[in-house]
Amino acid sequence: MRFGRIFLGLTVLVLIAVGGFVAYAWKSEIPAQEAQLQIDPALRARGEQLAAIGNCVTCHTAPGGKPFAGGLALNTPFGTIHSTNITPDRNSGIGTWSEAAFGRSMREGVDREGNHLYPAFPYDHFTLVSDEDNRALYAYLMSLPAVDAPTPGNSLPFPINHRMLVAGWKMLFFRPGAYQPDAAHDAAWNQGKYLAEGLGHCGACHTPRNALGAEIAEQHWDGAELEGWHAYAINEKSPAPVPWDKEKLAFYLANGFQQIRGVSRGTMAPVTTNLGVAAPEDVSALAAYVADRMGTPSPERIAKGEQALAKAGETSEATPASAAPTADSQAIPSSASARGQAIYQSACASCHESGRALPHGGLNFHLSTAVNAPSPQNIINVSLYGLPAPEGEGGPIMPGFAGALDAGQLTDLIAYLREEFSDQPAWPDLSTRVEDTISGKTRVPLYRSDGTAASPTDSSVRTTPWL
Ligand code: HEC
Ligand code: HEC
Ligand code: HEC
Repeated sequence: MRFGRIFLGLTVLVLIAVGGFVAYAWKSEIPAQEAQLQIDPALRARGEQLAAIGNCVTCHTAPGGKPFAGGLALNTPFGTIHSTNITPDRNSGIGTWSEAAFGRSMREGVDREGNHLYPAFPYDHFTLVSDEDNRALYAYLMSLPAVDAPTPGNSLPFPINHRMLVAGWKMLFFRPGAYQPDAAHDAAWNQGKYLAEGLGHCGACHTPRNALGAEIAEQHWDGAELEGWHAYAINEKSPAPVPWDKEKLAFYLANGFQQIRGVSRGTMAPVTTNLGVAAPEDVSALAAYVADRMGTPSPERIAKGEQALAKAGETSEATPASAAPTADSQAIPSSASARGQAIYQSACASCHESGRALPHGGLNFHLSTAVNAPSPQNIINVSLYGLPAPEGEGGPIMPGFAGALDAGQLTDLIAYLREEFSDQPAWPDLSTRVEDTISGKTRVPLYRSDGTAASPTDSSVRTTPWL
């Protein structure tokens, strides 16, 4: 009797919980809209700049596909998710979506029919976007040529293939709501934070994630590895040998390189390409906010930066000068370090100590964030596959050495670079990472400046033979 009552009580509680969850998870369909409205050209132009900050075209374009027509396979730890067609096609795109339906997808991660969207679409950031900016983004998307390109099916295991499950994820990790300005800071800082945390979704790559794929708030911008590339810490833990400041950051973000800090690579390459067409005042605001997050460098950090500059033969940040060549390599290499040095001298030094201005000259490695970073992955990637040429340019920025160096040689070389050009400890996982990258276990999408990915380890999506 007593047990019966407890059982009944528990059942009622479970039913209330399930009912509550279903009520929370259930989203209504927003009716299909009939015809397209007139688009205000000024709103459309603003939308184009905002779409660049949101990196929409990078995720919503398949290799060789039409811009914004979707179909790019995103390989997440949970399975493959395809981006959707966001052109105004009424059949396979978002042509039937009203502005309200679009705004809800950005704010709540729900499609027009009411299905929950996977957070591979970074609505955990886009939720901060204002109604006004969503209106501009919508106007821009609706002005694009309609492309009929149905989205390929996802390959997600049970139970993740059920979109209802995303509602549970949202309950745990997702806080919807537009950006609320911080009164303690001025308008420019707030605009920078609004763009960086919202539309720019910098944390999607620069913040480590937990086992369920949500960003770990306590490690905001601490640096993370995603899609075969290490996105460095961009807060006070930045491993850059010479501290960044807001002017240098603004230049890097808009131009894709900075004279003494190198070229933007991997998944960052399309970010900077896109920011190149964003409004300069938005890029400045972003840069000022990032610089604020990095903080004022300590006197020790500044002194270390000066030392790195001196070692690289740069008298000051403003006047790049050519460096004197380091030790010659006549001795027969015996130790791993000597072997690495010999390879460096014959294969790398001619460009990386030439003193030629960037982006086409190689950075002196004393100044390289990659060499000083906690992960060797980016150097492995760049050494193997080089840096693909920007759209419209013939030769690569740097050739790849995949055919020329074997795993042992590459490991010796990179261990030498770490030892010679940084004061950081050796990378313990270097040789495993080199082997995994060469074997294709670590998939490394390469990006050229136009933002179209091609993976050198997956011939089915490789579009350009850069190797
Ligand atoms: C990191 C990759 C990524 C970026 C950046 C991105 N998206 Fe997406 N987006 C996706 C994926 C993946 C989906 C599909 C999610 C799903 O199927 O649940 C998606 C879905 C959508 C949808 C829902 C469409 C539908 O038919 O259900 C809209 C609308 C959308 N994105 C708009 C945008 C806009 C606008 C931007 C830029 C401001 C943007 N996305 C940037 C990955 C991205
Ligand atoms: C799609 C993933 C991705 C997104 C989104 C992204 N980054 Fe990055 N970022 C990276 C990767 C990967 C690197 C390292 C690339 C390299 O080796 O050059 C990087 C490098 C950087 C660097 C260079 C740091 C250094 O010391 O060399 C800065 C600064 C930076 N990102 C800022 C930003 C900002 C600001 C945003 C948001 C507007 C952003 N990133 C968004 C992936 C991303
Ligand atoms: C033909 C000239 C050339 C050669 C040879 C070359 N590089 Fe590069 N490398 C470049 C250019 C140009 C860049 C882009 C500017 C930059 O970021 O340093 C670059 C960038 C890099 C970067 C990124 C540096 C940073 O932090 O920004 C790494 C790492 C690198 N190269 C490694 C190597 C290694 C290792 C070798 C030898 C196996 C090598 N490179 C040989 C031209 C070259």
